[in-house]
Amino acid sequence: MAENGKKTMRLDRFLAEMGIGSRREIREMAQKGRIRINGEIEKKSDRRVNPEEDRIEADGKIVEYAAVEYFMLNKPQGVVSATEDSRYQTVIGLIDQAVRKDLFPVGRLDLDTEGLLLITNDGALAHRLLSPKKHVDKVYLAYVEGCLPEDAAARMECGIEMEDGWTALPAVLKVIGPVSNEKSEGNAPVTEVTLTIREGKFHQVKRMFEALGCRVIYLKRLSMGPLKLDSSLLPGEYRRLTREEIDLLQNTSIET
Ligand code: URA
Repeated sequence: MAENGKKTMRLDRFLAEMGIGSRREIREMAQKGRIRINGEIEKKSDRRVNPEEDRIEADGKIVEYAAVEYFMLNKPQGVVSATEDSRYQTVIGLIDQAVRKDLFPVGRLDLDTEGLLLITNDGALAHRLLSPKKHVDKVYLAYVEGCLPEDAAARMECGIEMEDGWTALPAVLKVIGPVSNEKSEGNAPVTEVTLTIREGKFHQVKRMFEALGCRVIYLKRLSMGPLKLDSSLLPGEYRRLTREEIDLLQNTSIET
Protein backbone atom coordinates (compact mmCIF):
# COMPACT_ATOMS: atom_id res chain seq x y z
CA MET A 1 0.00 0.00 0.00
CA ALA A 2 1.25 3.51 -0.74
CA GLU A 3 0.97 6.34 1.74
CA ASN A 4 1.62 9.76 0.18
CA GLY A 5 2.94 7.86 -2.84
CA LYS A 6 5.44 5.92 -0.67
CA LYS A 7 5.55 2.19 -0.30
CA THR A 8 4.59 1.04 3.16
CA MET A 9 3.96 -2.34 4.69
CA ARG A 10 3.08 -3.82 8.05
CA LEU A 11 5.95 -3.99 10.50
CA ASP A 12 5.35 -7.69 11.25
CA ARG A 13 5.30 -8.56 7.57
CA PHE A 14 8.51 -6.65 6.93
CA LEU A 15 10.31 -8.37 9.82
CA ALA A 16 8.91 -11.80 8.92
CA GLU A 17 10.06 -11.42 5.33
CA MET A 18 13.49 -10.36 6.47
CA GLY A 19 13.68 -13.64 8.40
CA ILE A 20 13.41 -12.25 11.96
CA GLY A 21 10.63 -14.65 13.00
CA SER A 22 7.01 -15.59 12.46
CA ARG A 23 4.35 -12.90 12.75
CA ARG A 24 3.36 -14.28 16.17
CA GLU A 25 6.97 -14.15 17.38
CA ILE A 26 7.29 -10.60 16.10
CA ARG A 27 4.11 -9.55 17.92
CA GLU A 28 5.62 -10.94 21.14
CA MET A 29 8.96 -9.23 20.48
CA ALA A 30 7.15 -5.92 19.95
CA GLN A 31 5.10 -6.32 23.12
CA LYS A 32 8.33 -6.89 25.04
CA GLY A 33 9.83 -3.65 23.67
CA ARG A 34 12.44 -5.43 21.54
CA ILE A 35 11.60 -3.51 18.36
CA ARG A 36 12.41 0.12 17.62
CA ILE A 37 11.45 2.32 14.73
CA ASN A 38 13.66 5.37 14.19
CA GLY A 39 14.97 4.95 17.70
CA GLU A 40 11.55 4.71 19.41
CA ILE A 41 10.21 1.50 20.93
CA GLU A 42 7.23 0.25 18.88
CA LYS A 43 4.84 -2.13 20.60
CA LYS A 44 2.32 -2.46 17.78
CA SER A 45 3.48 -5.06 15.28
CA ASP A 46 0.69 -4.17 12.84
CA ARG A 47 1.70 -0.55 12.33
CA ARG A 48 2.87 0.45 8.89
CA VAL A 49 6.46 1.25 8.08
CA ASN A 50 8.35 2.41 5.03
CA PRO A 51 11.21 -0.09 4.77
CA GLU A 52 13.22 2.19 2.50
CA GLU A 53 13.08 5.14 4.87
CA ASP A 54 12.40 3.95 8.42
CA ARG A 55 15.26 2.63 10.55
CA ILE A 56 13.92 -0.59 12.01
CA GLU A 57 15.76 -2.43 14.78
CA ALA A 58 15.10 -5.83 16.30
CA ASP A 59 16.99 -6.61 19.50
CA GLY A 60 19.27 -3.64 18.87
CA LYS A 61 20.26 -4.71 15.34
CA ILE A 62 19.22 -2.74 12.27
CA VAL A 63 17.16 -4.88 9.88
CA GLU A 64 18.25 -4.03 6.36
CA TYR A 65 15.66 -3.79 3.64
CA ALA A 66 15.90 -6.56 1.04
CA ALA A 67 16.82 -4.83 -2.16
CA VAL A 68 16.88 -8.21 -3.87
CA GLU A 69 14.66 -11.23 -3.43
CA TYR A 70 15.19 -14.84 -4.43
CA PHE A 71 12.49 -17.51 -4.64
CA MET A 72 12.55 -21.13 -5.68
CA LEU A 73 9.33 -22.14 -7.44
CA ASN A 74 8.22 -25.63 -8.36
CA LYS A 75 6.62 -24.49 -11.58
CA PRO A 76 3.38 -26.31 -12.32
CA GLN A 77 2.18 -27.21 -15.79
CA GLY A 78 -0.12 -24.67 -17.47
CA VAL A 79 1.65 -21.61 -16.06
CA VAL A 80 3.79 -19.50 -18.34
CA SER A 81 7.41 -18.49 -17.54
CA ALA A 82 6.87 -14.77 -18.02
CA THR A 83 6.11 -11.63 -16.05
CA GLU A 84 2.89 -10.88 -17.99
CA ASP A 85 0.65 -12.85 -20.29
CA SER A 86 -2.81 -12.26 -21.70
CA ARG A 87 -3.83 -15.96 -21.81
CA TYR A 88 -2.13 -17.86 -19.02
CA GLN A 89 -1.33 -17.34 -15.39
CA THR A 90 2.32 -16.33 -15.00
CA VAL A 91 4.95 -17.72 -12.66
CA ILE A 92 5.33 -14.22 -11.16
CA GLY A 93 1.63 -14.22 -10.32
CA LEU A 94 2.22 -17.28 -8.12
CA ILE A 95 4.74 -15.49 -5.87
CA ASP A 96 2.26 -13.77 -3.60
CA GLN A 97 4.77 -13.09 -0.79
CA ALA A 98 7.02 -10.92 -2.95
CA VAL A 99 7.95 -7.48 -1.69
CA ARG A 100 9.61 -6.42 -4.90
CA LYS A 101 7.59 -5.65 -7.97
CA ASP A 102 10.46 -6.19 -10.40
CA LEU A 103 10.83 -9.96 -10.12
CA PHE A 104 11.35 -12.12 -13.20
CA PRO A 105 11.97 -15.81 -13.91
CA VAL A 106 15.57 -16.79 -14.60
CA GLY A 107 15.08 -18.50 -17.93
CA ARG A 108 12.03 -20.26 -19.24
CA LEU A 109 10.40 -23.62 -18.86
CA ASP A 110 7.80 -24.68 -21.42
CA LEU A 111 4.12 -24.36 -20.51
CA ASP A 112 3.91 -28.12 -19.91
CA THR A 113 7.25 -28.40 -18.04
CA GLU A 114 7.36 -28.56 -14.24
CA GLY A 115 10.10 -28.00 -11.74
CA LEU A 116 12.79 -25.67 -10.56
CA LEU A 117 12.49 -22.05 -11.56
CA LEU A 118 14.47 -19.31 -9.87
CA ILE A 119 12.55 -16.06 -9.47
CA THR A 120 14.49 -12.94 -8.55
CA ASN A 121 15.20 -9.32 -9.39
CA ASP A 122 18.98 -9.90 -9.32
CA GLY A 123 19.83 -9.17 -12.94
CA ALA A 124 23.57 -9.79 -12.56
CA LEU A 125 23.00 -13.29 -11.18
CA ALA A 126 20.44 -14.07 -13.89
CA HIS A 127 22.91 -12.98 -16.53
CA ARG A 128 25.61 -15.25 -15.13
CA LEU A 129 23.26 -18.22 -14.99
CA LEU A 130 21.79 -17.69 -18.45
CA SER A 131 24.67 -16.40 -20.52
CA PRO A 132 25.35 -18.86 -23.36
CA LYS A 133 29.07 -18.46 -22.60
CA LYS A 134 28.62 -19.87 -19.09
CA HIS A 135 27.85 -23.52 -19.20
CA VAL A 136 25.54 -23.99 -16.25
CA ASP A 137 24.43 -27.60 -15.73
CA LYS A 138 20.68 -28.14 -15.74
CA VAL A 139 19.32 -31.53 -14.74
CA TYR A 140 15.93 -32.66 -16.06
CA LEU A 141 13.81 -35.67 -15.26
CA ALA A 142 11.87 -36.90 -18.29
CA TYR A 143 9.46 -39.61 -19.31
CA VAL A 144 10.38 -40.53 -22.84
CA GLU A 145 8.01 -42.36 -25.15
CA GLY A 146 9.36 -44.73 -27.79
CA CYS A 147 12.31 -47.09 -27.96
CA LEU A 148 15.44 -45.38 -26.72
CA PRO A 149 18.33 -46.51 -28.95
CA GLU A 150 20.93 -48.63 -27.13
CA ASP A 151 23.59 -46.04 -27.87
CA ALA A 152 21.40 -43.12 -26.66
CA ALA A 153 23.72 -42.17 -23.78
CA ALA A 154 26.81 -42.34 -26.00
CA ARG A 155 25.15 -40.19 -28.67
CA MET A 156 24.08 -37.62 -26.07
CA GLU A 157 27.64 -37.59 -24.73
CA CYS A 158 29.10 -36.95 -28.19
CA GLY A 159 26.79 -33.98 -28.80
CA ILE A 160 23.65 -34.90 -30.65
CA GLU A 161 22.81 -33.30 -33.99
CA MET A 162 19.29 -31.91 -34.44
CA GLU A 163 17.20 -32.05 -37.58
CA ASP A 164 18.04 -28.37 -38.32
CA GLY A 165 21.78 -29.15 -38.30
CA TRP A 166 22.51 -27.61 -34.87
CA THR A 167 24.65 -29.80 -32.59
CA ALA A 168 24.03 -29.75 -28.85
CA LEU A 169 26.89 -29.66 -26.37
CA PRO A 170 27.68 -33.03 -24.77
CA ALA A 171 24.96 -34.08 -22.33
CA VAL A 172 24.71 -36.84 -19.73
CA LEU A 173 21.83 -39.29 -20.08
CA LYS A 174 20.99 -41.68 -17.23
CA VAL A 175 18.29 -44.27 -17.75
CA ILE A 176 16.29 -44.89 -14.58
CA GLY A 177 13.96 -47.54 -16.00
CA PRO A 178 10.62 -48.32 -17.61
CA VAL A 179 7.43 -46.67 -16.31
CA SER A 180 3.75 -47.32 -16.95
CA ASN A 181 2.87 -46.63 -20.58
CA GLU A 182 -0.86 -46.08 -19.96
CA LYS A 183 -0.70 -42.54 -21.32
CA SER A 184 1.54 -43.27 -24.29
CA GLU A 185 0.28 -43.49 -27.84
CA GLY A 186 -0.38 -47.07 -29.01
CA ASN A 187 1.08 -48.39 -25.73
CA ALA A 188 4.60 -47.44 -26.80
CA PRO A 189 7.23 -48.07 -24.09
CA VAL A 190 7.95 -45.19 -21.72
CA THR A 191 11.30 -44.77 -19.97
CA GLU A 192 12.20 -42.55 -17.04
CA VAL A 193 15.53 -40.78 -17.52
CA THR A 194 17.55 -37.84 -16.33
CA LEU A 195 19.39 -35.61 -18.75
CA THR A 196 22.03 -33.05 -17.79
CA ILE A 197 22.51 -30.29 -20.32
CA ARG A 198 24.76 -27.24 -20.28
CA GLU A 199 22.77 -24.95 -22.57
CA GLY A 200 19.23 -23.62 -22.54
CA LYS A 201 17.98 -23.52 -26.10
CA PHE A 202 14.26 -23.44 -26.94
CA HIS A 203 12.66 -26.89 -26.38
CA GLN A 204 16.16 -28.25 -26.05
CA VAL A 205 15.47 -31.45 -24.11
CA LYS A 206 12.45 -32.32 -26.23
CA ARG A 207 14.41 -31.73 -29.42
CA MET A 208 17.35 -33.81 -28.23
CA PHE A 209 15.07 -36.81 -27.66
CA GLU A 210 13.28 -36.18 -30.96
CA ALA A 211 16.67 -36.51 -32.63
CA LEU A 212 16.79 -40.03 -31.13
CA GLY A 213 13.32 -40.82 -32.51
CA CYS A 214 11.53 -40.47 -29.14
CA ARG A 215 9.03 -38.06 -27.62
CA VAL A 216 9.17 -36.42 -24.18
CA ILE A 217 5.77 -36.82 -22.52
CA TYR A 218 6.69 -35.41 -19.10
CA LEU A 219 9.49 -33.01 -18.19
CA LYS A 220 10.61 -31.59 -14.87
CA ARG A 221 13.72 -29.56 -14.03
CA LEU A 222 15.50 -30.82 -10.92
CA SER A 223 18.44 -28.45 -10.67
CA MET A 224 20.20 -25.45 -12.14
CA GLY A 225 23.88 -25.10 -11.32
CA PRO A 226 24.24 -25.65 -7.56
CA LEU A 227 20.53 -24.95 -6.87
CA LYS A 228 18.39 -28.06 -6.35
CA LEU A 229 14.60 -28.20 -6.33
CA ASP A 230 13.34 -28.64 -2.76
CA SER A 231 11.51 -31.96 -2.93
CA SER A 232 8.98 -30.79 -0.33
CA LEU A 233 7.60 -28.18 -2.74
CA LEU A 234 4.52 -29.40 -4.61
CA PRO A 235 3.88 -28.01 -8.12
CA GLY A 236 2.80 -24.37 -7.65
CA GLU A 237 4.54 -24.02 -4.27
CA TYR A 238 7.54 -21.83 -3.64
CA ARG A 239 9.84 -20.61 -0.89
CA ARG A 240 12.55 -18.05 -0.38
CA LEU A 241 16.09 -19.24 -1.01
CA THR A 242 18.09 -19.76 2.15
CA ARG A 243 21.18 -17.65 2.80
CA GLU A 244 23.30 -20.74 2.00
CA GLU A 245 21.58 -21.24 -1.36
CA ILE A 246 22.07 -17.58 -2.29
CA ASP A 247 25.75 -17.78 -1.33
CA LEU A 248 26.15 -20.99 -3.33
CA LEU A 249 24.68 -19.34 -6.42
CA GLN A 250 26.75 -16.19 -5.98
CA ASN A 251 30.02 -17.95 -5.20
CA THR A 252 29.99 -20.99 -7.44
CA SER A 253 32.36 -20.40 -10.27
CA ILE A 254 30.49 -21.12 -13.43
CA GLU A 255 32.62 -22.55 -16.21
CA THR A 256 33.00 -20.27 -19.21
N1 URA B 1 13.92 -28.30 -22.56
C1 URA B 1 12.66 -28.39 -23.06
O1 URA B 1 12.45 -29.01 -24.10
N2 URA B 1 11.68 -27.76 -22.41
C2 URA B 1 11.85 -27.08 -21.26
O2 URA B 1 10.90 -26.55 -20.69
C3 URA B 1 13.15 -27.01 -20.74
C4 URA B 1 14.17 -27.63 -21.42
